[in-house]
Amino acid sequence: MTRTGPGTPLGQLMRAYWQPVALVSEMSGERPVKAIRIMSEDLVLFRRDDDAAGAEEAAGTGGWGLVGRYCAHRGVDLSFGRREGRGLRCLYHGWLYGPDGRCLEQPAEPEHSNFAAKVRIPSYPCVERNGIVFAYLGTGDPPPFPAYDCFRAPEEYTFAFKGWWECNWLQGVEGGIDPSHVSFLHRFVGEDPREVYGQQFSEEVEGTGQKLSELVGASFRPDIEVESAEHGLRVFALRDLTEDVRHVRITNLVFPNAFVVPFGNGKAFCQWHVPIDDENHYWFMILYDFEEVTDKDTLLAQRLAEVSLPDYRPLRNRTNDWGFDPAEQRELTYTGMGLDINVHDQWAVESMGPVQDRTVERLGVSDRAVTANRRLLLKAITSFESGHPVPGLPLDAREAEELTGPLAIDTVTPADGWEEAWRLRESERRARSPWAGREVPRAQR
Ligand code: FES
Ligand SMILES: [Fe+2]
Repeated sequence: MTRTGPGTPLGQLMRAYWQPVALVSEMSGERPVKAIRIMSEDLVLFRRDDDAAGAEEAAGTGGWGLVGRYCAHRGVDLSFGRREGRGLRCLYHGWLYGPDGRCLEQPAEPEHSNFAAKVRIPSYPCVERNGIVFAYLGTGDPPPFPAYDCFRAPEEYTFAFKGWWECNWLQGVEGGIDPSHVSFLHRFVGEDPREVYGQQFSEEVEGTGQKLSELVGASFRPDIEVESAEHGLRVFALRDLTEDVRHVRITNLVFPNAFVVPFGNGKAFCQWHVPIDDENHYWFMILYDFEEVTDKDTLLAQRLAEVSLPDYRPLRNRTNDWGFDPAEQRELTYTGMGLDINVHDQWAVESMGPVQDRTVERLGVSDRAVTANRRLLLKAITSFESGHPVPGLPLDAREAEELTGPLAIDTVTPADGWEEAWRLRESERRARSPWAGREVPRAQR
């Protein structure tokens, strides 16, 4: 469940899905060429120089090329290559590669040689969606994109970012689908001093007069229910605030390596945990707002304050004890590691070590989502190997259209009839949204 290198059972399953490889914003500088390591494969992502490319050259790929990192000639690193209209040129002897990995020129070879036509380096198709470049590293044709909200939202209602975590991808995903930890890890013991915008647990939960961090901190033993869904798993965290009032928080596992969680009242985000190798990974996020255009500049400034470029490594990390401050732990935050909840989540999963030793853990009832996910993952690895369908992987356009939502909401409902109440609240939100449409998607009914 943790190993994703080429040829591994999980690696093959994960390569069957479109995976995020870069932010569009990190590829928009003067020289959009970047070394990418994903699932232990070394690649180079580049955007062809469209000014130099003819129209017919640019067709089909959106100008993105994701190719093997090392030149087929004598192994030089292509991430330093020269970007041209037709592709990327190796610095050593000038071999030129197109976005499809074909060698187009070998200027030092005899003029009438057809050697170039016999040379091809690995290449993978790329598609840009809402601020992220996705790549398909699997075999055969790529699947269609599901109709998830994060892909359907107009770009101006979204915000994309990423960050490097020093641990196996599964630890990241298991943190995201674990509704129990939010009552502890993200709690404030003092007063949260921040402005609200962009701060997930600091918004007031409608109808309670309480911030989410207060509400979940006070009600720390939620009922956790898990059901299977077309996209993976739907996880309910149910907290009884009084005898008649229930807080319902719905999060989702989006199989195999993403989750969708509510973010404040009118927003949600999808977050992928993409292996760099087995001991490091990137999280990639698309935040989407159902009601308002996002303030990208503010969100970007908040996020950039926490990382160092160009690798998006968090400033708080193992080398500095994640900025742990005992006075802060006493007086302000549960962790003593600052106000950014992303750092709390990062610390939790990095502190386990590069690959958590799951042979010695002790899972309880509150870990239901984690155990359900592991069962699903093991089953899917076997299903995929024997050619059977797996969750969240559409076989055709019709199936892709049915992969919608996933519905992720944080709301307060009457204790009686909460199942209908949250769906009603969610469909009201869609009806108000300029883009999310008026119907609760059929597949979710
Ligand atoms: S090593 Fe790349 S052209 Fe020779
Ligand atoms: Fe968290």
